[in-house]
Amino acid sequence: MKIAHLSDLHISPRSRPENSDYTRRLLNYALEEGVDHIVVTGDLTDLATPDDFLEARKIFDEFGLLNPFRLTVVIGNHDIFGGVHLAKDLIKYPGRCATINYERKLNEFKSYFLETFENIYAPPPPKVFPFVKPIGDILFVGVNSIAKYSKFANLFGAKGRVYKSELSDVENLLKIAAHDVRKRILLIHHHFNKQVDTQFSSRQPTLKRLELYANRLKYKNKLYRIMRRFNIDLVLHGHEHVSHHYSQRGFYFMNAGGCVDKIKPQELMVNFVQFWGDQLYTEIRTIHEDKLKNQRKIFADTLVLNG
Ligand SMILES: [Fe+2]
Repeated sequence: MKIAHLSDLHISPRSRPENSDYTRRLLNYALEEGVDHIVVTGDLTDLATPDDFLEARKIFDEFGLLNPFRLTVVIGNHDIFGGVHLAKDLIKYPGRCATINYERKLNEFKSYFLETFENIYAPPPPKVFPFVKPIGDILFVGVNSIAKYSKFANLFGAKGRVYKSELSDVENLLKIAAHDVRKRILLIHHHFNKQVDTQFSSRQPTLKRLELYANRLKYKNKLYRIMRRFNIDLVLHGHEHVSHHYSQRGFYFMNAGGCVDKIKPQELMVNFVQFWGDQLYTEIRTIHEDKLKNQRKIFADTLVLNG
């Protein structure tokens, strides 16, 4: 099975109108490449407004992807708290985050992508996450890593945390479903790594890198223990807007956060995952399109790992 991994599409007709076109181009390319399943690891929308969600839903529907066997999504912080559209909004943003009903936003997110939440095992409603979804011989484990708003600890709503009750649910779901599949892939929005060391991140301003450091996933020891116990083969995430693959504490990670937030103009990025027997193959493809010259160049960064 071939999987395309996208993240941080930040679809919003109001704040990021160009991202609708980028998303269509990425989906078109991935489907041309023959992927069986598409995974999006959060921040599907930019401002989390009904217009943003309806636009995202419409785009996936255009490609026939509103189907649990074709698409799996997990939530990102922008899908709950939105973001800052104009600089003048920055000062009001924490106040706005404070008024957001976290649980209601989780359920709204699910309602906009309801078809993709079929064919899953999950705790009873109103809980939305975690869930596990078997697709062929792969089990996707969808986790919510969005920390609740706090005036002191999470002023901008961007920090990562998986709450204790959710960790117990992850463990219980894996006890039921982890043994009937050959490979297990964890889907989560936040990055695990302390400091990103890629050719792209070194171009980011120091302040931005400090912010990313502060907003990584925290308190993750128990999650690591669960990942080890149930042999998680790969973690797919986003949040940090670069695309790269790396290993940490004996696990493989792939970040697709650079999909549309490209470093160079005219470039989009899509990640691919494939298993060949026990070998795991991950690839980050950069699509460079020059519309004026009607040219498309593809650059691939491939990694093959022994299972
Ligand atoms: Fe994010």
